[in-house]
Amino acid sequence: MSGHGTPIPMMSRPCGPLSGEAHVPGDKSISHRSLILGAMAVGETRITGLLEGQDVMDTAKAMQAFGAEVTDHGGGEWSVHGVGVGGFAEPEQVIDCGNSGTGVRLIMGAAATTPITVTYTGDASLNSRPMGRVTDPLALFGAQTQGREGGRLPMTIKGAADPIPVTYTSPVPSAQVKSAVLLAGLNTPGQTVVIEAEATRDHTERMLQGFGAELTVETTDEGRVITLTGQPELQPQNIIVPRDPSSAAFPVCAALIVPGSDVLVPNIGLNPTRAGLFTTLREMGADLTYENMREEGGEPVADLRARYSPDLRGIAVPPERAASMIDEYPVLSVVAAFAQGVTDMQGVKELRVKESDRIDAMAKGLSAAGVTVDEGPDWWRVTGLGHGNVPGGVTVASVLDHRIAMAFMVMGMATQKPMTVDDGNPIATSFPIFEPLMAGLGAGITRPNA
Ligand code: S3P
Repeated sequence: MSGHGTPIPMMSRPCGPLSGEAHVPGDKSISHRSLILGAMAVGETRITGLLEGQDVMDTAKAMQAFGAEVTDHGGGEWSVHGVGVGGFAEPEQVIDCGNSGTGVRLIMGAAATTPITVTYTGDASLNSRPMGRVTDPLALFGAQTQGREGGRLPMTIKGAADPIPVTYTSPVPSAQVKSAVLLAGLNTPGQTVVIEAEATRDHTERMLQGFGAELTVETTDEGRVITLTGQPELQPQNIIVPRDPSSAAFPVCAALIVPGSDVLVPNIGLNPTRAGLFTTLREMGADLTYENMREEGGEPVADLRARYSPDLRGIAVPPERAASMIDEYPVLSVVAAFAQGVTDMQGVKELRVKESDRIDAMAKGLSAAGVTVDEGPDWWRVTGLGHGNVPGGVTVASVLDHRIAMAFMVMGMATQKPMTVDDGNPIATSFPIFEPLMAGLGAGITRPNA
């Protein structure tokens, strides 16, 4: 089982105004999909701006284990020489996806309709997350799974030799589940259909179309109905990965709460299925503007300008927006602590099965730092104290979760006393340049034990 090495405590001190440009890394969701679809195309896919975080590197290694050639040309330029749909070879070793739910669930789908046997594992966080949500629909194609109690990793999946096309209504709002089913549908004759009641990020649909698959999306009373025609020959692509809105969230939110700040975060993907946080922040009174709106590689992109926002107020976040900002609730709860009034977050059950139980992790850390948090199975509420009034001054657990660690580092930039996380290692899974990037803006993050 993989791990994260010796814990590295990280401390964030209250700092002066943040200013300058924050060039955040490439989008994690699009990076995983670029490697996986590249490996399933025939010929060479070129990728510019790939996220070189641990999660994506684990997916790159996995694609090599299935027989694709993955080459790092330096400076975020990568190529993948694919083996074609149905061309995956049986890996000789266990596929270790580290901390990445997206990596393991998408790869399970991609390999489930090829007659190979694959064993998957990950770190302690990943091995405690539910996989039944993916292996249940994969069983309908004919894949056979043997895992641990509760559908947990490590797990072995024997791919279907004669896969049967499936129509699947996803019981959870999850792009990972939807994507696993669609990727399994690639090597299945006939039409695979996924129905999702709530729209989740649609990168898989857009990218499958880009690679030449026949895929349609209809909006009906049941929700989005996605129909994929199986066994296409995927055409290799030149992909420019937009920068990750989920990573942009950290410098943006830091700028809103540190007095005097003015930060520009250029080239951020603003796909509507991902941009819910920015809409929410604006409703809370954030001074956040989109500059230079444009389209790149089929995705809307803009430069985000975030300035200190003295009049932040709590709001009720509409539950139907949850899927479009699901990874951003931890840092939103930090901004909510500095707002006036209550921020109410409903319909967020999925937060309990991420890299950690994110409601629990944030509630514990925020409460220890002097902020009142109420919670239920699928909701939580943060009572804001207003700028300058959040005590801080505690060490909190990052529970193997990159976004928990970064959220508390952002918090420490504006609390009365520093905030410390017990382990900053997980940050490298999605945002390996977080510390130098935040230091470049004027933040004071240090490693107390170094
Ligand atoms: C992702 C989907 C989301 C998100 C994750 C990335 C993806 O997970 O939390 O960070 O790339 O498909 P769910 O599908 O479980 O909601």
